[in-house]
Amino acid sequence: MPDNVLIAPSILAADFARLADSARAVEGAADWLHVDVMDYHFVPNLTIGLPVVQSLRKATTLPFDCHLMIADPARWATGYAEAGAYNVTFHAEAAADPAAIAKDLRSAGSRAGLAIDRDTPVEGYLELLPHFDLLLIMTIKAGFGGQAFLPELLDKVRTARRHIDTGHLELRIEVDGGVAEDTIAACAEAGADTFVAGTAVYGADDPAAAVRKLRALAS
Ligand code: DX5
Ligand code: ZN
Repeated sequence: MPDNVLIAPSILAADFARLADSARAVEGAADWLHVDVMDYHFVPNLTIGLPVVQSLRKATTLPFDCHLMIADPARWATGYAEAGAYNVTFHAEAAADPAAIAKDLRSAGSRAGLAIDRDTPVEGYLELLPHFDLLLIMTIKAGFGGQAFLPELLDKVRTARRHIDTGHLELRIEVDGGVAEDTIAACAEAGADTFVAGTAVYGADDPAAAVRKLRALAS
């Protein structure tokens, strides 16, 4: 079980007309705010982009965990670091040279994350992990909130955890998709230490209480 659990509510499940209020609703309970950027191209859904992230950055003290589900992250990712994101994660499937993007993100002042979508094996990316601060393993197919958790994808978390521990790498493992009260313990047992939750937080009557409950279940 991880001793340093981070919970990152995803604003994808929040009211987009009240994003600042939604962020503030989990201040003090959450560790990061997970910001899902989708471009109607890499994934068939469209959410928010850089101008919204820049505005929202001024509205909350929570560190931003930007998850870019976009094509051509080599061109766009550093803008999110420059906007003040704490961590910027982009998809392995969209990047020709992930290590070069990670280097650019770190130079621009953020941490760098690598995301692995549902149908992508993790093995081909293990050797790149020293360039990254975070590995995001999707536990759904990226693109939409509210999907059912896919437990078989935790095998990738186990593989990554073994590799990271054996190599003594400093890297968080984040799971994203369908993480909720009934699935978070299995994620933690598989080796995740960072947990994104959209519906499970913003679908609850009290989002901050939902975050606290998830943390207790993961710890
Ligand atoms: C989906 C996003 C997730 C999404 C998770 O592609 O990356 O962050 O918000 O939503 P839930 O927790 O509802 O599955
Ligand atoms: Zn996400």
